[in-house]
Amino acid sequence: MSEIRRFVVTIDGAAGTGKTSVALELARRLGTDCLDTGAMYRAIAALSVDNGIDPTDGVALAECINNLGIRFDWDQTPPAILLGGNDISKRIRDLDVSSVVSIVAKQPEVRAVLVEEQRRIGREHPLLVTEGRDQGSIVFPDAAVRFFLEAKMDERTKRRLKQLRDSGMQVEDTEVQQDISQRDTIDSTRADGPLACPEGAIVIDTSSKTIMDVVDLMEESVKAFLSA
Ligand code: DC
Repeated sequence: MSEIRRFVVTIDGAAGTGKTSVALELARRLGTDCLDTGAMYRAIAALSVDNGIDPTDGVALAECINNLGIRFDWDQTPPAILLGGNDISKRIRDLDVSSVVSIVAKQPEVRAVLVEEQRRIGREHPLLVTEGRDQGSIVFPDAAVRFFLEAKMDERTKRRLKQLRDSGMQVEDTEVQQDISQRDTIDSTRADGPLACPEGAIVIDTSSKTIMDVVDLMEESVKAFLSA
């Protein structure tokens, strides 16, 4: 890959479709950096919950982000997310943060700040695998290869439950399924940067596939594109 000067792969899809795990593994295989844009929206949700800022007040949240600064520590794998210099990578996975993240992500002022920051990261990390909801459609519409992941609801719930329980949280499956369904509705119906399959994206149903199966398919597509 050393002769390639710029290369962005986007992976979009709903919660629990496996984006974060496959993005990390694909980035490792391709030797690129990996950007988790959901972590950025989650950081703003944590900011709202922990500081009592109304999650619908996009102007106040955007001002706070601009003052504090949102950054990644690229020396860690996966990169740690820093807000005002503090590592909040663990805090952003809590359910109280998850439950407001879609409301925060709906605010146009918040999206404007984060989309700008993601494009800046894209300029500074020209070899990049990035994942989210709008990466192939809005943020990097000129990406080399765009993927869109899908999965059945019961499988998505099972994966999220495992992820949360593995990190020591005690959660019920109904609670997790409700969180995913609510976020699906808000994420796909918002006016600004809704969850949508980007034009020309390669669609992969991950329901009955392992992470490695999905990454094998992706790696093949990316390598085919590079050698074309
Ligand atoms: O991928 P995730 O579950 O960590 O994302 C958390 C929330 O952030 C999700 O409910 C929608 C929002 N999000 C978004 O609106 N745009 C992105 N590019 C990434 C995430």
